[in-house]
Amino acid sequence: MKVLVVGGGGREHAIIKKIKENSRVSEIFALPGNGGMAKDATLVDIGATDIEKIVDFAVKNNVDYAVVAPDDPLVLGCVDALEEKGIACFGPRKNAAVIEGSKVFSKQLMKKYGIPTAQYEVFSDADEALKYAESCPVPTVIKADGLALGKGVIIATTRKQAKDAVISIMRDKQFGKSGDKIVIEEFLTGPEVSVLSFTDGKTIVPMISSMDHKRAGDNDTGLNTGGMGTVAPNPYYTKEIADECMEKIFLPTVKAMKNEGRTFKGCLYFGLMLTENGPKVIEYNCRFGDPETQVVLPLLESDLLTVMMAVTDEKLSECEVKFSQKSACCVILASQGYPVKYEKGFEITIPEETEKSVFVAGAKLENGKLLTNGGRVLGVTQVRDTLKEAVEASYGEVEKIRFENAYYRHDIGKRALNCKEG
Ligand code: AMP
Ligand code: GLY
Repeated sequence: MKVLVVGGGGREHAIIKKIKENSRVSEIFALPGNGGMAKDATLVDIGATDIEKIVDFAVKNNVDYAVVAPDDPLVLGCVDALEEKGIACFGPRKNAAVIEGSKVFSKQLMKKYGIPTAQYEVFSDADEALKYAESCPVPTVIKADGLALGKGVIIATTRKQAKDAVISIMRDKQFGKSGDKIVIEEFLTGPEVSVLSFTDGKTIVPMISSMDHKRAGDNDTGLNTGGMGTVAPNPYYTKEIADECMEKIFLPTVKAMKNEGRTFKGCLYFGLMLTENGPKVIEYNCRFGDPETQVVLPLLESDLLTVMMAVTDEKLSECEVKFSQKSACCVILASQGYPVKYEKGFEITIPEETEKSVFVAGAKLENGKLLTNGGRVLGVTQVRDTLKEAVEASYGEVEKIRFENAYYRHDIGKRALNCKEG
């Protein structure tokens, strides 16, 4: 079987390594992938949003199954285009990917179906948004409607900041057309939990829960990033909360999408906040999270490709999805200066015995050498019986990897460990 994976980050590397475990797989194409995946997949130099070329490549190379991992090709309709040519895919179609592609859509969906989320207002006129921002309670949260490379959410602690955010999104078009509309919503507090799930549009199977660490600096300081590390499971997410989420959030969302004629098939990601008034949805993503995937998939004991194909065939209810009872921790090694400004091109050395637990995000191969080529360079995941052991083991492996200007947080898992003890 020939499998194509669209995307090129650490998440895709984790997906590829897991798919490779299936003995039916003869070749995996990573499109575009990155130099750090060269041992696990054939790299194809086509951009992840170049849909025409992706489809053309898949047809010419007799691809049997395609996994579309990142948000932008999903929102652009990559799955629809591949399916039109008869290629089976994992990932939602365009009309379902809108659950991430438009915050206005997702908020209205939640309101219509009574799914718990923050109170909100939608604006398509900057003057009205500014007027609202003058008197709204603060802190408040301003969100660009469309995709914004994970940067479209601004938490304003003062009204001035709220107005500045409105101006930069709606007037200065910081995120282009993604800022034609905005959502201004209530600021919620509580522990955050990421829950990725498999769904075929009828059945939903949540994966093991996880916790992201979004800020650049230790103790959750500094700028927001794509994620500096993850642990799984998330100790705040108890069995009671999981049951409540299934009843009030997960199943209602799948049913709502079906009812809207937008059946969601693929990985549906729930970004949750456990508030005093119960779990609420902070965001939906139409895909696997990054770097959540790098801790969730190593704990998956079932065969990933089999589960994915069951989703495609709408037979998820007949498929066993089993997770290990162990814990996982992923520490991200970034380039010093990320997420603002950083140098690239430094040689990365990874001892051979560490390679299996490394998921490479920003690297390229040049003359046989692996060089840094992005902000987040790679993630190191370790699985152990306890979270404490997993955290220690991950940091142990991190020490063995070398590149100039490497930067990482030293407290991944600390909050989760404190929660367990407290
Ligand atoms: P997102 O880009 O949607 O993942 O949002 C980024 C981060 O902003 C989330 O992980 C939360 O920490 C925070 N956030 C988003 N919406 C809210 C909200 N309504 N209240 C408090 N924090 C929020
Ligand atoms: N880690 C958050 C995301 O993938 O959006």
